[in-house]
Amino acid sequence: MNITLRQLKVFESVARHLSFTRAAEELYLTQPAVSMQIKQLEQQIGLPLFEQIGKRIYLTEAGNEVRRYAQRIATELIELSDGLEALRGLNSGRLRLTVASTANYFATDLLATFTRRQPGITFQLEVTNREGVIRRIQDNEMDLAVMGKPPEGLDVVAEPFMPNPLVVIASPDHPLAGGEQIPLERLQDEIFVLRETGSGTRNTVERFLEQRGLSLRGGLQMSSNEAIKQSVQAGLGLGVVSIHTVALELELGRLSILNVEGFPLERHWYLVHRAGKRLSPAADAFRRFIIEEAHQHWRPPQNNAAVEPPQQSPGLAATGG
Ligand code: PGA
Repeated sequence: MNITLRQLKVFESVARHLSFTRAAEELYLTQPAVSMQIKQLEQQIGLPLFEQIGKRIYLTEAGNEVRRYAQRIATELIELSDGLEALRGLNSGRLRLTVASTANYFATDLLATFTRRQPGITFQLEVTNREGVIRRIQDNEMDLAVMGKPPEGLDVVAEPFMPNPLVVIASPDHPLAGGEQIPLERLQDEIFVLRETGSGTRNTVERFLEQRGLSLRGGLQMSSNEAIKQSVQAGLGLGVVSIHTVALELELGRLSILNVEGFPLERHWYLVHRAGKRLSPAADAFRRFIIEEAHQHWRPPQNNAAVEPPQQSPGLAATGG
């Protein structure tokens, strides 16, 4: 059998997406080039790896078997590259960082500070919602991740490093703006602009309300914090966002935080990596920088009585479950 790593890489992508088109997009190849690689792999193996039923393709039994090995080989290759990175030391290295969309409001600032100190290290930054971050961790496609809560059911090391309060925001001329201790139930009379399913912010709010037998009237759904802020400013409804996303708008008086009973929801940002993963010197240096210094970048928003002053990072390493 004469299988190449390239064939396995193309196969792994098609098997993950169950789509030749999406694999071609991911790998920057044409669709015929992807089909050719798969055909050659099937010829080498002597068995079909995919079958088509209607418009969809499925992995055959042989396909499933090859996929298991392709994933194992990909993981080994990443470890090889990490090991070589370790030998090269801190003067070079590329770090793959995946952050939840909301964390991007401070992540780039932290990256800039770190890169000034370690100019030899380059970053590949991916921004996606909580669900996307969990997928990256599962697929071992990143070195470190920043997210709002450790993933459940995955063997990870998760270290909290900075507060992440979630607040209810409104346009400053909203009737509830400036109100004292607004009862939680009162929120049910309002329309909300919510994040998409799969967002950590949205999950947290929904769980918090569910536990109290309440739910929100979601009028609009948006997949970015920016879109939510603009809609709330325009008076389309109320929003619940991390305070990290609204510092500027609060300072400029374009948004107000509502003083709602039970809010802000106290959360933390976590730095996460797979348990047992050997971090390269570059990844480890970045990890230490985040744990030791990131909380200094936390500034409580101006003119906002609803949010407590900054706390020190809890500092304890937690193992996610
Ligand atoms: P989100 O993630 O951007 O997906 O809402 C933040 C979080 O996990 O809290």
